[in-house]
Amino acid sequence: MTKSQNLWGGRFTGKADPSFAKFNNSFAFDRRLFAADVRASVAHGNGLIAAGVLSQGEGEQIRAGLQAILEHGQSGPNYFDELESEDVHSFVEARLVELVGDVGRKLHTGRSRNDQVATDLRLWLREAIDQLVAQLRATQETLVTLAETWPAAVLPGYTHLQRAQPILFVHWSLAYFEMLARDRERLLETRKRVNVLPLGSAALAGSSFPSDREAVARELGFASVSRNSVDAVSDRDFCVEFVSDCALVLVHLSRLAEEVILYTTTEFGFFELSDAVATGSSLMPQKKNPDSMELVRGKAGRVFGHNLSLLTMLKGLPLAYNKDMQEDKEAVFDTFDTTYACLEVAALVLRNVELNEARMRATASQGMMNATELADYLVRKGVAFREAHETVGRIVMKAIERGVELGELSLDELRSFAGIIESDVFTALSLERTLATKSLAGGTAPARVAEALLAARESL
Ligand code: ARG
Repeated sequence: MTKSQNLWGGRFTGKADPSFAKFNNSFAFDRRLFAADVRASVAHGNGLIAAGVLSQGEGEQIRAGLQAILEHGQSGPNYFDELESEDVHSFVEARLVELVGDVGRKLHTGRSRNDQVATDLRLWLREAIDQLVAQLRATQETLVTLAETWPAAVLPGYTHLQRAQPILFVHWSLAYFEMLARDRERLLETRKRVNVLPLGSAALAGSSFPSDREAVARELGFASVSRNSVDAVSDRDFCVEFVSDCALVLVHLSRLAEEVILYTTTEFGFFELSDAVATGSSLMPQKKNPDSMELVRGKAGRVFGHNLSLLTMLKGLPLAYNKDMQEDKEAVFDTFDTTYACLEVAALVLRNVELNEARMRATASQGMMNATELADYLVRKGVAFREAHETVGRIVMKAIERGVELGELSLDELRSFAGIIESDVFTALSLERTLATKSLAGGTAPARVAEALLAARESL
């Protein structure tokens, strides 16, 4: 019998055009699945032994060969560069045959690259998710530590980027903590759907060899086996979910990045980045630029792009496997790399930020951010909120006219708008009181925020 170089030679008499072969090959990027491919191959081999398709002796030879290949692969990257391969599956099988001879050619019994690649990718992604979840936690930890460092710092809170109401800096940090907590939950939820074994689905119809899929799943740590072979080889929902979870991580990181960039400007002047995470200008000697966070903001676009490219790649695909699906891997790999790096850099920046607490406090005390507090004061004296809002609006106009803050108007001036106002209004308008009154669960009152910070620390 003649033996062909690639996995599908028998039916072919001609050779693939080199430019098509280059276009078709995925080994340049799917070699990242190498360890997963070997692991899944070992489990498949064990399944074949249990099913009596391979003898114990053959199985042992194959297992030892695969083990040696894994060690080779882990000891040097040259291993991959020396040899041309169509994809990682062909690569591993070819190395196996080189090592153990013809018995290696039995491993592919009851298996197709279609269920193989789906299995490899799920194994790889499960680990990637675990790494991302750990890094999300590390970045959350950095947010908590930063918050603990500045327990009394106050920020002007914004809506529409117009000064709204003062908030504690800790409260601001914990807002990002919450976003990343949801990101972690989402990834762990996705992980459940990743953690299903496709192997045993073969090309699309299932395998005719009686391998125990449950046992293979147990060996590979999968929680269950896929229920439909056609679906199992054509499903890439889990890739879309993963990339979309990461897209949200980057939405969150890009918002954090934008605020850090804004707050380090001279105009805001709330934060200062250390030299460790900033760069200078080749032309303007005075510059210190927040490139770290600009890149985090900018890289979000890559992941959004991968999200759309995966959806587009899958849309309208007929069942079952189609080669279009080979495009899944670069999207998934780059999404992981980008998200992981952005989480790491965001944490690094958070460890390298100094606060200008005095300026933050001064800014939070200006711009009549206590106007709502004055309306609430009137409400506590029995005025309907809508009327209080109206009255305070007129007081604000007056203060603008006079170029003063609300607390700088005299009691008489205030009383000319609402006779009900008494001298206790000035305490009510203080920054401390403005914060302290927001004492419902989830509010920015120092007592609530201290509890939230403790809970955040404990949740890690
Ligand atoms: N390199 C392929 C991919 O990534 C592996 C599966 C190929 N299957 C096939 N029948 N050609 O999708």
